[in-house]
Amino acid sequence: MSTTEIAKGIYWVGAIDWDVRDFHGYSTYQGTTYNAFLIVDDKITLFDTVKSSHKDEMLRNLKKVVDPEKIDYIVVNHVEMDHSGSLPALMELIKPEKLICSPMGHKAILDHFHRPDWPFEVVKTGSEISLGKRTIQFLETRMLHWPDSMFSYIKEDGILFSSDAFGQHYATSERFDDEVDMAEVMHQSAKYYANILYLYAPLIKKLLATVAEMNLDIKMIAPDHGVIWRSHMGRIIEAYDRWSRNEAGKKALVIYDSMWHSTEEMAHAVEEGLRETGVSTRLINLKVNHRSDVMTEVLGAKAVVLGSPTLNNGLLPRMAGFLMYMRGLKPTNKFGASFGSFGWSGEAVGLMNAALEDMKIEVIEEGVKVKYVPTEDHLEQCREMGRRIGKRVLDSLPAEA
Ligand code: FEO
Repeated sequence: MSTTEIAKGIYWVGAIDWDVRDFHGYSTYQGTTYNAFLIVDDKITLFDTVKSSHKDEMLRNLKKVVDPEKIDYIVVNHVEMDHSGSLPALMELIKPEKLICSPMGHKAILDHFHRPDWPFEVVKTGSEISLGKRTIQFLETRMLHWPDSMFSYIKEDGILFSSDAFGQHYATSERFDDEVDMAEVMHQSAKYYANILYLYAPLIKKLLATVAEMNLDIKMIAPDHGVIWRSHMGRIIEAYDRWSRNEAGKKALVIYDSMWHSTEEMAHAVEEGLRETGVSTRLINLKVNHRSDVMTEVLGAKAVVLGSPTLNNGLLPRMAGFLMYMRGLKPTNKFGASFGSFGWSGEAVGLMNAALEDMKIEVIEEGVKVKYVPTEDHLEQCREMGRRIGKRVLDSLPAEA
């Protein structure tokens, strides 16, 4: 795998993980990349490293540009192991003059690697370090998405190394947005946002405002995963702005699991009722849809309707697991309802409604419960519920939407 000179004297020296399909619970059907960058200047500087499994690939890429032992500085923009896993080996090999990180990064590196003897240089928002011809300006981005996260901006080239922000889990041999299918890049960007950054929407709003105030002349955004934005920066910034405002469209989801098809029949009836009103619907069976793909759909939906039968006074495990996952990501600006079949106790609908309320999602219906197997009358109740929710979705949108 070859390196790419992304600007004069600035190289991508990361690694491509074609095989990864599970990223701590997030499905990565397209693999990912661990991006690391090298600036060759008076002070040769490496930005981030890669997952430890890909250290050798990164070293091969580095050696095509420079003898690693000649690197002067290492900048750690983010301490999560997919970017710092190779740091101990590289510190040993390079013995850099400076290991540059944010104040929270300093703490996190110590807690990960327990090496207080490393040559830390702690930088804060606004700090600058000259490399010779170039200057790095730092911007702490705490909780986007870890306390240590930081951006590094190369003033003379207008390149923003943005850590995880604006990234995508998308393995390609191409390095730039204008070399690949933009529909796929935007889909992977939405999935990344929905599964990693959703809960930090207020901080993202603030960060976008801060970056705008700083009036940076950004020519390229280089995240730590996926392709580099150089031709379509406006699209990803507009998308982050929209996602961070929690905008919801004319869209409703019916998310369900079923034991003996009763709840499944109800799900189809709810979806039918919703669709009759003209809203865009997604019927999502948790048996065949991964939770992280479901969250990508949740991102732009106004209504979330949940279906599960009662099992042992509770929910089916896939629904319980999905609700636990969704709760952590804190989606807002939605309303919801629930339905499900039962045999003798029938707690599922109440439990799903309680889970929605716990997520501050307004429950707008009592829900439909059916004993064992639905009749045509029951299915019509489900359709009616779908129609009412669909109408509520339409009524909730601005007139022009
Ligand atoms: Fe790509 Fe938060 O690590």
